[in-house]
Amino acid sequence: MSDPVSFTVHGPVVVLRIQNPPVNALSQAVRQGLAVGMDRAEADAAIKAVVIVGDGRAFIAGADITEFGKPPMEPNLPDLCTRIEASPLLVIASMHGVSLGGGLEVALGAHYRIAQPDAKIGLPEVHLGLLPGAGGTQRLPRLTGAAKAIEIMTTGGQINAAAAIEMGVIDKIEAGDPQEVGLAYAMDLISSGAPRRAISELAGPEAMDWDAAYQGAVSKSRGQISHGAIVRAVQAASEQPFAEGMKRERALFMELLTSDQSKGMIHAFFNERAVSNLPELKGVRPRQLNAIGVIGGGTMGAGIATAALLAQMQVVLIETGEEQASAARSRIEGNLQGALKRGKITQEKFDVLTTVALTVATHYDTLRDVDLVIEAVFENMDVKKEVFGKLDAVCKAGAILATNTSYLDVDEIAAATSRPADVIGLHFFSPAHVMKLLEIVVADKTASDVVATGFALGKALGKISVRAGVCDGFIGNRILAVYRTAADHMVLDGATPYQIDKALTDFGFAMGPFAVADLAGLDIGWMTRKRKAPDRHPDERVPTYIDKLCEQGHFGQKTGEGYYVYEKGQRASMPNPKIPVLIAAEQEKLKITPREFSDEEIVSRYMCAMVNESAKVVEEGIARRPADVDMVLLFGYGFPRYRGGPLKWADLQGLDTVLADIERFAAEDAWFWQPSTLLKTLVADGRNFDDLNRAGAK
Ligand code: 3HC
Ligand code: NAI
Repeated sequence: MSDPVSFTVHGPVVVLRIQNPPVNALSQAVRQGLAVGMDRAEADAAIKAVVIVGDGRAFIAGADITEFGKPPMEPNLPDLCTRIEASPLLVIASMHGVSLGGGLEVALGAHYRIAQPDAKIGLPEVHLGLLPGAGGTQRLPRLTGAAKAIEIMTTGGQINAAAAIEMGVIDKIEAGDPQEVGLAYAMDLISSGAPRRAISELAGPEAMDWDAAYQGAVSKSRGQISHGAIVRAVQAASEQPFAEGMKRERALFMELLTSDQSKGMIHAFFNERAVSNLPELKGVRPRQLNAIGVIGGGTMGAGIATAALLAQMQVVLIETGEEQASAARSRIEGNLQGALKRGKITQEKFDVLTTVALTVATHYDTLRDVDLVIEAVFENMDVKKEVFGKLDAVCKAGAILATNTSYLDVDEIAAATSRPADVIGLHFFSPAHVMKLLEIVVADKTASDVVATGFALGKALGKISVRAGVCDGFIGNRILAVYRTAADHMVLDGATPYQIDKALTDFGFAMGPFAVADLAGLDIGWMTRKRKAPDRHPDERVPTYIDKLCEQGHFGQKTGEGYYVYEKGQRASMPNPKIPVLIAAEQEKLKITPREFSDEEIVSRYMCAMVNESAKVVEEGIARRPADVDMVLLFGYGFPRYRGGPLKWADLQGLDTVLADIERFAAEDAWFWQPSTLLKTLVADGRNFDDLNRAGAK
């Protein structure tokens, strides 16, 4: 393995070249290499300048996230940046690819910064539940002012070189080999007698209304604590000398690093990547994917077609008749109009996508040449089987036949064809061109290269793809059914839907379960309750008060009335006054005396139900690892990222506590609260879900 930092001399300039693939993260070896390289350069009287450059695809992507949570190792990054800045030599950062987090902080420690035209910079620590901890909160505002620095650090986005030069964060843009460009810049600076420039020596940013800035950041953070901490660190940059500001930054950074929130977000960072690395797919080649077919152009089919078009694929969409075909085309065009408005595509691209790339037809024959078909027709087994029979007849050999079913048995659908090895579930989430999650449902006979192609499609569409086994609702909808039921039980027992929604959005969910039900359509739950009624266990508690509302034709947002009442064209809503009346009638019928629920109890019951079913999904092999379930909830169900997912949340609570709560709830309703065997085993063995994640890692 090559040196993590190479040292080469070029006349009066030393180049320190970071070589730590894939993204030059600042591991201990890299930090050490940079510190030793600086010492060595300074010890040579002939050397006037040092150029720091990254090898491969990035300057530096930041601190090495794998080291977080482990004992700290010297030299630490803030000291390294200070040490670089304090050098009597001229230090130049020559940046290409990304310079993120600690990577940008190293560059801010340098005296001059030059970047490639396509270079990007950013301080994305907020996405890990952190703040920039190597001087970023102190140096950046000295260049950009406090407000801009707070915006950059609380959004965590990437900024292109042109914008960075405008803000004064970089000094020069020049195309070419980063090392050569950096060397030439160093020679210019030496020959022009340019001075050392230490950002720490600049005045701190102007004061602002810090409490208002703090409140502003907190109000946008949905309970995440790092946003507010960033404002306080910038305040220190303004109010205190640099060294004191650095101490304040360090203290806030360490507080965040040891918080559950950063643990949850770091778990999400690694697992959103790990989730699609399946050991059984190593070396399996996906099939070709150029043109895809979509059957049904309703909500889902149109969204899936849009996603595929945006990923440069040819799309053939089949509808039942001319009228439906034209409606499907309008839906897709509407979706693409949205992309056009947001500047994601040009008008020219829009024209190509809606003409050359898209075919909407009513004859299955049009599907002869497609490589993969995704069926998104009504959720009805007979209709699905009929469609798969037709696909079997027209599609070419080797074409993949996929279903977007939410709940139905993919094995049964596969059995309607003569080629079950080519059949798979590809379960998208609504709106399919926006939502990041894709469940890849592997049926009994699905061939491994078909699974690999599902993952390749997910990657092409920019999705987080998670492998799921066949069961009612796969991973996400199966778990949803259970925690939703826990919420329904609380309503029967005395909590209001509005209190529950509020308690859960305060916990960090994007929406509460009753607002979600209104959005998805109450008819779905109503139909599911009817479908499941014949097999219902006598001990199962199923509230039916909401069915009364459905019987009157109220299905939530789409009809303007559900748990909430919706003014036309508005998402904001008021509680529906009919709901408490319907609930009271059902309580009376069931002889329930309503009781008070604290917000804490609401969260506890909801989360315990979610964790218990998640554990069963892992136990049965429906999900490959606990972290797979976590990613499903994060990317498909609005679970707060800073809590990592339900099973990470459970680990952080302590599994014994969670199990004890479940057992306590079971004393009142043993049918609903049946503790998962896996959960009990883990508690008995003193292990947790993360131990299983590690055991199942690639
Ligand atoms: N530390 C450790 N590993 C990292 C890493 C980091 N900072 N950044 C990326 N990696 C790893 C990824 O886990 C992945 O590993 P895998 O191949 O085993 O799954 C590999 O590098 C490649 O990453 P991606 O698949 O994400 O590659 P992309 O090209 O899509 O994206 C990237 C590259 C934009 C650099 C993206 O990886 C990224 O955003 N990384 C995180 C950047 C970040 O958050 N930096 C701040 C770190 S915290 C910090 O610096 C604290 C300081 O202020 C004290
Ligand atoms: P939808 O009712 O909006 O659209 C279904 C479309 O299929 C209609 O346009 C209909 O004309 C067409 N269709 C029916 N039979 C057909 C046939 N034989 N050939 C061609 N087209 C046919 O339904 P939606 O919501 O798009 O759902 C479709 C599937 O996706 C269902 O299986 C559903 O469970 C699943 N799903 C739905 C989600 C949602 O949030 N709506 C989320 C994930 C999956």
